[in-house]
Amino acid sequence: MNKNKSYSELDLKWKDEYNTSISEIDYQHQYFLSLVKRITDIITDTNNHIYCHRLFTELIYYAQFHFYSEETIMIKCNYGDINNHKEMHRDLIDLLTNEINSMSDNMADYQHFIQFLLKWFVRHTMEEDKKIAACMK
Ligand SMILES: [Fe+2]
Repeated sequence: MNKNKSYSELDLKWKDEYNTSISEIDYQHQYFLSLVKRITDIITDTNNHIYCHRLFTELIYYAQFHFYSEETIMIKCNYGDINNHKEMHRDLIDLLTNEINSMSDNMADYQHFIQFLLKWFVRHTMEEDKKIAACMK
């Protein structure tokens, strides 16, 4: 990825550059992105913040499942930096949980939340998850 590219220019489409070459991880990342896209569409079309809150909670559950799965792969290949990587996962889940619990019914909060999540996803996938693939070889 072009390092100078602003994350605000990112969209929700899957890009080849997100591939880690670990099919299980790539499949889950694609599903995660499609879930974010679905929520974004709903936020645009509705003012039902209780519904949006539930969808975001679903997203956090999925992220937890995905992180657990990714950490199992790291264990399988004796990934040396596993503790640091696990900490990044745990920090994100803590942050998302706090954010979602303190969110007002202002729909702009949800848009802001999605932007943050997308930036985290791209950076983490490109800079951290690809290191796991190197360990698999
Ligand atoms: Fe990860």
